[in-house]
Amino acid sequence: MEEEEIVCGIVGYMGPGEASRILIEALKRLEYRGYDSAGIAIWNEGKVEVARKKGKVEELRKEIADNEKFQGNLGLAHTRWATHGVPSERNAHPHRADDVIVVHNGIIENYLELKDELRKAGQEFLSDTDTEVIPHLISSFMRKPMAFIDAIRQALTELQGSFAVGIINKKDRIMVAAKKESPLIIGVGDGEYFIASDAPAVLDRTNRFIFLEDGDMAVFKDNQLSLMDFQRKEIVRPVQTVSWTGVMAEKGGYKHFMVKEIFEQPRAISDTLIGRIREEQGEVGFEELELPDISKIRKIWMVACGTSYHACLIGKHIFEANLRIPVEIDIASEFRYRDPIMGADSMLILVSQSGETADTIAAMREGKKKGAYTLSVCNVLGSTLAREADGVVFTHAGPEIGVASTKAFTTQISVLYLLLLHMGQKLGIMDSDTVRDLISEIKKIPRKIQKILDDAHAVEELARKYMTCKDFLFIGRGVNFPTALEGALKLKEISYIHAEAYAAGEMKHGPIALIDENLPVVVVSPVDQTYQKTCSNIEEVLTRRGRVILFTDDASHDMRQKVENAITVPETIYELEPILTVVPLQLFAYYIANFLGTDVDQPRNLAKSVTVE
Ligand code: G6P
Repeated sequence: MEEEEIVCGIVGYMGPGEASRILIEALKRLEYRGYDSAGIAIWNEGKVEVARKKGKVEELRKEIADNEKFQGNLGLAHTRWATHGVPSERNAHPHRADDVIVVHNGIIENYLELKDELRKAGQEFLSDTDTEVIPHLISSFMRKPMAFIDAIRQALTELQGSFAVGIINKKDRIMVAAKKESPLIIGVGDGEYFIASDAPAVLDRTNRFIFLEDGDMAVFKDNQLSLMDFQRKEIVRPVQTVSWTGVMAEKGGYKHFMVKEIFEQPRAISDTLIGRIREEQGEVGFEELELPDISKIRKIWMVACGTSYHACLIGKHIFEANLRIPVEIDIASEFRYRDPIMGADSMLILVSQSGETADTIAAMREGKKKGAYTLSVCNVLGSTLAREADGVVFTHAGPEIGVASTKAFTTQISVLYLLLLHMGQKLGIMDSDTVRDLISEIKKIPRKIQKILDDAHAVEELARKYMTCKDFLFIGRGVNFPTALEGALKLKEISYIHAEAYAAGEMKHGPIALIDENLPVVVVSPVDQTYQKTCSNIEEVLTRRGRVILFTDDASHDMRQKVENAITVPETIYELEPILTVVPLQLFAYYIANFLGTDVDQPRNLAKSVTVE
């Protein structure tokens, strides 16, 4: 028997609408969370129809299209991403035992013990999943007999691990949702209710949400909602209106979400600046953040995963250079297991688009335990990191759907930059004249990105030229070493081409051995204090007949003549260079993947929000 860990999306609907259509559409918007199998259950007057399919949600849609059995206005659906346990129809959700049907996101850690007990009591299991114990457990309590809601409560208290669940039963028109350590929200529509792992799933129907907390249970009956804890004690949670709209979560004429999101960056950054900068006064502040006394902070930590980790690497450069406070960087999955040395004199900044990355959440909890002040930089309102950290600053990128992160990254850098100015001011290191000058630099960024995007065709041509290459080396120095890392990551993620990034000065310690006429070397190097050093690296590549693609703001230098290709990015100050240099690298990866015909928005084996370890 295989243990199963899953990241996935769940959704549920109760209202007057056609549940199967609404759920399939919502599920498609949750596909970024996983897309190796999907399933749906529709309730109709004492009957429940279930369909499950290996593959994408589209396969499931075809399976039930025009099937009258799937008519009804209450239902649950699920899209799955397996890390253990093969993707198959048998393991796809919903899972059912007798009259009880469940969709689940999370891991039930004690499922083997529970399964053993339930088996001994005569229950028959049909899948390898941990999830299947949930409907069996509920059903066994219902046979005692116990009312549906009480049986659920009882079952939930016996589960160890994490769960966000949607539950229905064959007999009654009731839907129940509950959560512990996995994300789950309620969409409050016009005479209808939704449950979903994330807001974009249902943004086309509502922008009013209740963000459930751990230990919350929601019961939907007769189109009414009651909220309670697992002891059936009534609880109250506010309905919050998010500024995201359904249109923001649609492709709007673009072929892929990723390219739409790349082109949205000027607006995303403008939105991230609005309300935070007062240029005339030379002030930066955040409505949502009241920092404690930071004069006692001796060390800052920045911790994250994936692309968000690259934003932290940039953060380290700009914070250390300007605040003169040591900044330590870590990958969340490393940080959480290495007993980091930190305490009340530490500030721990967690960067996460989703606010739900399991390793980053664990890192935040570890930091809290050690007495650090925790601050999250998140894109998703109501997410776990946003709720649990001591402070939060939101990136206003809008929903990011493409699995490969783009606009979240540049808005993260923007927020870190604003945070730097805010802290610099609070610590008395930056006066208002300095802050005013630095504000004026970031204000110019959206226009400069637009200029890069207006010339996107030049990058597209470059992509056409290099699309058949099998390996790439990316190099950069200082703030642009992380940019090189990010450029290589984008290419790997969506085109499946092998790409490595190195600090340019490290090239001579290994990667130089790889260079020959088949290896394109992407050099990210605006004119800054290390430009001449990187030019020497370019020479080293050229003398070994390597092919150089240079991304620079140097419009005049003769280096442009020597390299095979050069793309110009606008000039800016050192701190903000990566926001500009990363954009043509995002485009480069996108166009190569597009030419190769890969599944750009949902690359194989990846998920956008990794809510398990
Ligand atoms: C996944 C995504 C990446 C993302 C990373 C961290 O790997 O595919 O695009 O950078 O998770 O996600 P977070 O939501 O914490 O920024």
